[in-house]
Amino acid sequence: MSAAKNIVILTGSGVSAESGVGTFRDKDGIWARYDYREVATPEGFAKNPALVHSFYNERRRRLPGVSPNAAHVALAELEAGLAAKGGRLTLITQNVDDLHERAGSKNLLHMHGELLKAQCGVCGDVRDWREDLSTDIVCPACERTGAMRPYVVWFGEMPRFLEESVAAIARADLFVSIGTSGAVYPAAGFVSEARGLGVPATELNLEPSANALLFTDSRYGPATEVAPAWAREILAAL
Ligand code: OAD
Repeated sequence: MSAAKNIVILTGSGVSAESGVGTFRDKDGIWARYDYREVATPEGFAKNPALVHSFYNERRRRLPGVSPNAAHVALAELEAGLAAKGGRLTLITQNVDDLHERAGSKNLLHMHGELLKAQCGVCGDVRDWREDLSTDIVCPACERTGAMRPYVVWFGEMPRFLEESVAAIARADLFVSIGTSGAVYPAAGFVSEARGLGVPATELNLEPSANALLFTDSRYGPATEVAPAWAREILAAL
């Protein structure tokens, strides 16, 4: 393997699965139990905000009880190891949990938002939020009641940090996708973006994703095994 020093990694819910955070499209995944149109769209929130709040409240309440796993730790150590050799790791996550930051990742872009933040739908104020949300909450910034929403990106909304993500991929010498089904765009399009720019791409996943054929290299197995093994190879090749 030629030494890769400037790496962009996209993660999905498969990275957090072994920490006990559910995935979406697996057999027992979140979208098997909930209709995403009801809980993860602006229209669903307008129709039934209490249902949407309870869906995200439940997920937010579970965060203190879960911990980063060996995959999160390996990616944080890889970031530090690359930086020590003058390289750079950009970690783009679709996950709204905080396990990457708790493992020590620094250069992290939460493209689908963060469970531990809330946003006012009227004034746009975003702030750290650990409590339950409800339609009774008063915005601490504009003092409007009832417009606070989870700081997560819903279907039909624009993911965050797209410009930064595409710029990082254009500068990278390796793109890596870990624990994502490749079903949700624009994140699922990053591998084509990379390949179109001549950047090789590696897939680490439990099983081949929808985009598996676009990758130049792949390792299949649980993230806690394949991610640390792959990260060790990258560091050893520097
Ligand atoms: P998915 O549920 O679509 O895909 C999870 C992927 O992780 C699958 O390909 C699994 O095979 C794989 N996987 C499961 N367990 C794993 C393990 N232990 N190790 C490695 N891989 C494992 O979840 P995402 O791809 O994250 O968006 O979904 C993307 C977006 O769709 C989410 O951010 C969310 C969802 O709807 C919004 O809510 C807007």
